[in-house]
Amino acid sequence: MESVHWIGIFKEVAMDCKKFVEEQITSIKQTVGNAKAINALSGGVDSSLVTVLGHRALGNRLKTVFIDNALMREGEPHRVVKTFAKMNIPVELVDAQEEFLSALAGLTDPEEKRQAITDTFYSKVFSGLVKKSGAKFLLHGTILTDIEETIAGIKRQHNILVQLGIDTEESYGYAIIEPLKTLRKDGVREVAKYLDLPAEISQRIPFPGPALATRIVGEVTRERLATIRKATAIVEEELADIKAFQYFAVLLNDRATGIRNNKREFGQIIVVRCVESADARIAAVTELPWGKLHRICDRIITEVPDVNRCLYDLTPKPPATIEYI
Ligand code: XMP
Repeated sequence: MESVHWIGIFKEVAMDCKKFVEEQITSIKQTVGNAKAINALSGGVDSSLVTVLGHRALGNRLKTVFIDNALMREGEPHRVVKTFAKMNIPVELVDAQEEFLSALAGLTDPEEKRQAITDTFYSKVFSGLVKKSGAKFLLHGTILTDIEETIAGIKRQHNILVQLGIDTEESYGYAIIEPLKTLRKDGVREVAKYLDLPAEISQRIPFPGPALATRIVGEVTRERLATIRKATAIVEEELADIKAFQYFAVLLNDRATGIRNNKREFGQIIVVRCVESADARIAAVTELPWGKLHRICDRIITEVPDVNRCLYDLTPKPPATIEYI
């Protein structure tokens, strides 16, 4: 009886995914008609699923771009383009590093940094790409949780426009299609798996839209990005076998005294964060093995230039948030 019960559940999930995929492909086709569409891929599961659904519906009438905003992790832009090339989906890599870095220069307030990233993305970089492509539709990876949190005033997600009453056709010249707006993250992962997206996408740990800028307290500069990028790579490498909700490094806007090669130095400080959570609304700190923490610390203070302290954050959410900005 038990196994029959489980087969029934699997069938139901698979049937739902099939129905969802068919409905969304039909709906995208009907809405776009013979026009062109565009979408921005970040490599996260939401934008990846939208990219696959959009290409199944529109083929080469959907242009997919990956905007390199200078805030991505080590090797990420090329890795994402390559992953999609393997699925026969062409992705254009757009270098917009200078635009984002100059918009962030001098900013230290978290919300001002977020706003600068949103403005640069929509007003400067993406609007130009849409115009050039002749697209009349933008495919967005908005999910139900993004809409709910924005409407409730918890967090203004950068991809929420329509629900805030913004007429995108009037403001930006294109209409928005949101194929995932009825799904939550687990539903998105389920459909991504159903469509055979690689596990590196369907099971990817959350990585915020403003990317490494959320992991730099204070000003975002090329030098500080290089520091957090290196520390992030170490933490991700060392914790790859840990089944935590999220793990990452943070660069503080402070310095501490240290000694290296018998010389006093005033070095930078990296915080390591690793948390358990179901939906990011509350989070508990992962009890990492002491040996693992030591290894991470040793690597960070030897491999990341100018860093002489490494701390493990023991604070749950609340009162802390998961990210630092
Ligand atoms: P917090 O820091 O608010 O994060 O506890 C909760 C979850 O949301 C992610 N996060 C963001 N995602 N844009 C995003 O797309 C953002 O501005 C942003 N801020 C936080 C964070 O990584 C965590 O999973």
